[in-house]
Amino acid sequence: MRILAIETSCDDTGIAILEGKGGFKKPLFDILANITHSQVAIHAEWFGVVPSLAKREHAKNLIPILTASLKKAGLLKLRKKPETAPLTKNITKILEKESEILADLNKFVETIETPKIDAIAVTYGPGLEPALWTGVNLAKVLSIIWNKPIVPVNHMEGHLFSSILDENKSKIKNPNDKKIIFPTVALLISGGHTELVLMKDWMKYKVLGKTRDDAAGEAFDKVARMIGLPYPGGPHISRLAEEFNPTNKIGLSFPRPMIASDNLDFSFSGLKTAVLYKVKELGTMSDDIKREVAHEFENAVTETLVAKTKKAVIKYSAKTLIVGGGVSANKKIRNSLLEMGEKNNVKVLLPDRNYSVDNAAMIAVAGYFRSLNKKNILQPKDAKRIKAKGNLSL
Ligand code: KG4
Ligand code: ZN
Repeated sequence: MRILAIETSCDDTGIAILEGKGGFKKPLFDILANITHSQVAIHAEWFGVVPSLAKREHAKNLIPILTASLKKAGLLKLRKKPETAPLTKNITKILEKESEILADLNKFVETIETPKIDAIAVTYGPGLEPALWTGVNLAKVLSIIWNKPIVPVNHMEGHLFSSILDENKSKIKNPNDKKIIFPTVALLISGGHTELVLMKDWMKYKVLGKTRDDAAGEAFDKVARMIGLPYPGGPHISRLAEEFNPTNKIGLSFPRPMIASDNLDFSFSGLKTAVLYKVKELGTMSDDIKREVAHEFENAVTETLVAKTKKAVIKYSAKTLIVGGGVSANKKIRNSLLEMGEKNNVKVLLPDRNYSVDNAAMIAVAGYFRSLNKKNILQPKDAKRIKAKGNLSL
């Protein structure tokens, strides 16, 4: 099964082409192309993602990235004679709010032959709705023009499966070290989400707990801004925290909200506020103090995430812990989760760096697994039923 996947839920425009086989028993993937275009430089100025700008950038970049991905996968074939059939009214209607895609699509369809793919997977939520619509609408028109079915994918399900992709090889077997054994607990930590999910079988999810306010990534981004670091703040906080030298410390201590509560929910807003008050109190900070703020904040987030995940792993006798989402790129969090897994006899699957942040390869993997159940596949005539859902849950 060859899947073309489209990801536009936030500020990364992603297109991937993946060959999947083996079903649930022996999944085997070959990534033919995986291109991600980050809009960070555009949103950094605003210290966060601006939905209207994200939508505009996706619309501008989707067809060029699609063309590059097809080329990378060896699936780009130019027509011998350009096809001059105009786009149907149906297609122009679908793209009435995406004029940039429509403008590029005309030329694309005229010159490029239908590629050898079996289905189109697309993220339809959760995320920023204007951004999601660009990917969904492109998927719809490609489905109609190429006569290919669509598999709508939940972005969080993509993050959930990102750890079975391997950065160093394009061909991915699912050997024992990447094998998911049930029951599985998943910790999903991104800029918009922080949740613990129980998976007793393939594609069966129960949300065990989630953040009651800010997501972990959001807290990283906000604290970064307080100490003058650029957006997105996670990688910058992490780098600064690593430079912390205890011999210079002034003894900062931040709270670990809800760490001892007997549920599996999280809260990061109190921690963020505690950092804000401290930063205001400290006034102008030396580089050493900034390092200590970053270090102590990162410790507080890590300890909270690890404590709740450990609780879930023990309560549900998990055999595998899957971690996903942008924050799972954090070295301290990765190492602490690995250590907890070792102590509690649970195998921890972490995504390689390329696949921890938003990308379309993970959407293709989730799309492949979804497509194993025919109910999840929509034929082109039903494509118009797909709607972007900003608050979609697992
Ligand atoms: O999954 P993702 O790419 O996008 C969403 O779906 O939200 O996650 C982005 C988030 C940002 O908040 C970013 O600061 C955070 O992931 N992040 C990190 C690190 N790298 C990215 N947070 C902590 N440490 C990192 N190394
Ligand atoms: Zn994400």
